[in-house]
Amino acid sequence: MTVVDVVSADAAAAAAAAETTAAVQQQPAGNNGQTVCVTGAAGYIASWLVKLLLEKGYTVKGTVRNPDDPKNAHLKALDGAAERLILCKADLLDYDAICRAVQGCQGVFHTASPVTDDPEQMVEPAVRGTEYVISAAAESGTVRRVVFTSSIGAVTMDPSRGPDVVVDESCWSDLDFCKKTRNWYCYGKAVAEQAAWDAARHRGVDLVVVNPVLVVGPLLQATVNASIAHILKYLDGSARTFANAVQAYVDVRDVAAAHLAVFESAAASGRHLCAERVLHREDVVRILAKLFPEYPVPTRCSDEKNPRKQPYKFSNQKLRDLGLEFRPVSQSLYDTVKSLQEKGHLPVLGEETPEAEKEQTPGAEVQQGGIAIRA
Ligand SMILES: NC(=O)c1ccc[n+]([C@@H]2O[C@H](COP(=O)([O-])OP(=O)(O)OC[C@H]3O[C@@H](n4cnc5c(N)ncnc54)[C@H](OP(=O)(O)O)[C@@H]3O)[C@@H](O)[C@H]2O)c1
Repeated sequence: MTVVDVVSADAAAAAAAAETTAAVQQQPAGNNGQTVCVTGAAGYIASWLVKLLLEKGYTVKGTVRNPDDPKNAHLKALDGAAERLILCKADLLDYDAICRAVQGCQGVFHTASPVTDDPEQMVEPAVRGTEYVISAAAESGTVRRVVFTSSIGAVTMDPSRGPDVVVDESCWSDLDFCKKTRNWYCYGKAVAEQAAWDAARHRGVDLVVVNPVLVVGPLLQATVNASIAHILKYLDGSARTFANAVQAYVDVRDVAAAHLAVFESAAASGRHLCAERVLHREDVVRILAKLFPEYPVPTRCSDEKNPRKQPYKFSNQKLRDLGLEFRPVSQSLYDTVKSLQEKGHLPVLGEETPEAEKEQTPGAEVQQGGIAIRA
């Protein structure tokens, strides 16, 4: 494992940057010798992306805020990490550190972002950090494509969208609506994605975007991130009811595969909605209760007055056209729970439902031509 701790003092930074370059040059040529940068490498999605890139032979420069933090241990343990993973210290608001991380790379995957509804913590790092990454890519002289991890939050938050509209890459969230509803995460992601497109146009950078929906599936990192907490609360007794709400889901391994596909495919362009299925919360808790009846999964909706919220229609055809196949959400939820047990976030309480009984989960029949109609 080569850990390059690029410190902020100028002289040390120059020495460390030289060390980074030397380390990259010493790597065995994998995947035509390509080196790529992954920002926020220790995060939930990025960890799976780093794993995939290493498996494919890339050399990876992963940015983390502190390379010596034990929370990066799972990255250092990945196959190929000892030879081809370099951890670079970089905060999103430190332009020089981002430039050093991007230096010598052919590609950049910008996944780092705060994931919070606190406007002060969310908006500036998401937006300014994204502008810095695009600028660093433009300045590098080596980067041929930047892949930006946006979100469904930049797509669906639009109260004027009719119920029959198929949500696809042409949809954008309404910023005023995000502000009015104090949904600062969606606001920050939408503004960051707009900033990415503006900066890429201005600087002549080839940008492609992946817009994942809520991401579930096994964890590589030791801690529980926000989208996994969304599932964990239905198993550990902290949620007594479920909301009258719908949400689209996708597996983390498919999100990583989508990032690689849009990077490697010369024909890929624009945004890519990365979603497997839309479920009402009631469907989520039913799947969980069926697979793992030993946990106190809620059975009651918190809203007993209003009509049941209806799932929206969406298209994931662009990613399917690039060859992506999506794991069924029931499989992803099963793997999420097993992973939470393995990592000690959930006690193993009893026998799980046998495989044969798991097969028909709610909504298993609905995928038609890339459009999930109803779950
Ligand atoms: N999970 C989902 O359901 C989902 C869905 C759609 C889009 N996304 C997007 O996917 C990306 C990754 O999300 P995730 O779910 O993998 O979340 P995560 O596990 O919380 O990862 C976020 C990463 O960003 C880093 N980061 C945050 N603020 C930073 C800053 N100021 N400087 C440097 N690094 C910073 C974090 O580093 P620290 O560990 O040091 O904080 C962490 O490594 C984000 O852009 C998110 O918006 C996620």
